[in-house]
Amino acid sequence: MAALRTMAAMAAVALVGHVQATERPLPPCLDPFQPFVYSGCFQDTGSPQILPYRSSAPSDTMTVEKCTAECKGGGYRYAGLVYYGVCYCGQTVNGPAVADSECKLPCNGNSTQTCGGDDIFSVWTDPTFEPVEDVTIEDYDPIGCYTDDSPVGRALAYRQDQLDGATLTTEKCLQACRDGGFPFAGTEFGGECYCGTVLANDTSAVPAGECDKPCNGNPAQTCGGSARLTLFVADELQSLQPCGYEPPVSSSTALPPSSSTSTSVPPESSTSSTTPITSTTTTSSSACVSTTVVPPECEYKCGKWCSSPLPDWDDVKTCKNAWSTCALQVASCFKHAGWPDVLDCFDFGEWCSDISKYCDSKPWGGCRKGDFWGKKPPRGGPKPPTTITITTTCAPATTTTNGPNTTTTTKSSSTSKCPIPTPTNICVQPSSKHYGYGPGKPVGGIEMPVVTCNDLADDWPRYPFKGYNDVDSRKCRKYQRSQCGGACADACKEQYEDCVDVYAEGCRRKGHRGRDTSASASYFEFAHAVEKRTYRWNDSYGSAVYKCKAQYIDCLKENKGVTGAGKCPKWDGC
Ligand SMILES: *[C@@H]1O[C@H](CO)[C@@H](O)[C@H](O)[C@H]1NC(C)=O
Ligand SMILES: *[C@@H]1O[C@H](CO)[C@@H](O)[C@H](O)[C@H]1NC(C)=O
Ligand SMILES: *[C@@H]1O[C@H](CO)[C@@H](O)[C@H](O)[C@H]1NC(C)=O
Ligand SMILES: *[C@@H]1O[C@H](CO)[C@@H](O)[C@H](O)[C@H]1NC(C)=O
Repeated sequence: MAALRTMAAMAAVALVGHVQATERPLPPCLDPFQPFVYSGCFQDTGSPQILPYRSSAPSDTMTVEKCTAECKGGGYRYAGLVYYGVCYCGQTVNGPAVADSECKLPCNGNSTQTCGGDDIFSVWTDPTFEPVEDVTIEDYDPIGCYTDDSPVGRALAYRQDQLDGATLTTEKCLQACRDGGFPFAGTEFGGECYCGTVLANDTSAVPAGECDKPCNGNPAQTCGGSARLTLFVADELQSLQPCGYEPPVSSSTALPPSSSTSTSVPPESSTSSTTPITSTTTTSSSACVSTTVVPPECEYKCGKWCSSPLPDWDDVKTCKNAWSTCALQVASCFKHAGWPDVLDCFDFGEWCSDISKYCDSKPWGGCRKGDFWGKKPPRGGPKPPTTITITTTCAPATTTTNGPNTTTTTKSSSTSKCPIPTPTNICVQPSSKHYGYGPGKPVGGIEMPVVTCNDLADDWPRYPFKGYNDVDSRKCRKYQRSQCGGACADACKEQYEDCVDVYAEGCRRKGHRGRDTSASASYFEFAHAVEKRTYRWNDSYGSAVYKCKAQYIDCLKENKGVTGAGKCPKWDGC
């Protein structure tokens, strides 16, 4: 109930509206965090806006969890959901409470949750903030003179235009920011006041002398300079557990057990492959994979991940199909292989590229899978498939599954083709000169999952697009044409997660590999395997995560306008 009282107080100060906001979106919080608590149903009177920051996260899949992660990522205290799932964030709730029954619309992403009403917000509160009432302007500490107004935007997003610039003092600005619940406050050019939840990352401290303008309302005080902020921060208004916060480890973490020599399970020998030899024909009318294969269930193996077998080929066209099938699986390898074997996924990606090169090379004796297998066998999996029949028809399949020695061919009445989409991403890899990433050279070499045409015939009319992040295409997320932007946002996010899990993790372990106990191989083998991939990775864990984040934010920005227009126009024309 304290939260409710807090908000009633907030509503009372609603007359101070921020006239101008130039928010630079931050990524959602992907780390675990203490859940927001439901705080009631509030009305948006429009002026001022009930919560000033509108998240760009797609509303058609919105849930309470997603919205609170957005707000947590931006350092906000409140999250609000309106009209089936539009997500807003803010430091204060500027509107009156109404009966809970007014919040009655289901959330698009989870219909058991409530996403406000029409101009009515379901409001959730981050419980890791202290009440604003306890904070006064005395709690703001001066932290110096800082740059502002970079080409990218403002250092603090919320300009307080309701204050009269001609009479501005430091106290007036601090009071406005305090009332708005903002931990950061800054004065500039004698008469401007800005508040912020966070300080933009391209802001830097400069010599105090560069803040050289007296405050218009009190010449004895300094109010910034030209594109220079006199900056203050009230730690009391920041979350006690911001995104990424890790609870202090309990005192029982004294020393690692000195004799950790009992390496018990030899990981290799335990599960010898006693897979029942039932030929798993991957036929389903929807899957449109009417190939009958005597299957190696696991063709290429990286740790906990196994590739799905590539179709047979005997000419350039079918060879390219195999390459596509291969390349579309790379993202799932990064997602599932597990450390440290995930480093082998780079080899898998190269192996796929080798297939493409092989297709183009006009090999002497014909372009055949068997030939390529002889030269570059897939790693880790069992023997190559012995009998393969590929058919290029799909739909109503009538295949029976038999022993491995019988190959059954599909008969089909349908004439529709079974395209394997080319692995050309409709989403764009962003570039940054500063961090050195760009197309073909993502951070850590980890590409984003491919979003391209849906390969499943019966899905295609409604969902022409698909994000390929699973070896089983049916488990991949599919998208309507209007959702391409969201599809790319999902791909950006997944790239970010892989970037942190693989690249940043690799950077971290590089320095600590001697202590690694999760490695299955011996120390030296492990060190070698890691070293082979990571010796060029010279970031620290922190700077690696920072790069991953920078790439993620750019990725979201870069892909906002992706529409998929002209892409995947017909199912068999992908
Ligand atoms: C939907 O929301 C309910 C209530 O918050 C939760 O218990 C459930 O797990 C959610 N379902 C999904 C699929 O997230
Ligand atoms: C071939 O398949 C049949 C039926 O599944 C089985 O009875 C027979 O033993 C198999 N032959 C070989 C050589 O595997
Ligand atoms: C990593 O190494 C590259 C060249 O090998 C260098 O350009 C870059 O500055 C280094 N980065 C760090 C963080 O040391
Ligand atoms: C930091 O600033 C750079 C340049 O303005 C921007 O590209 C990047 O996305 C920002 N990263 C974070 C984590 O805010």
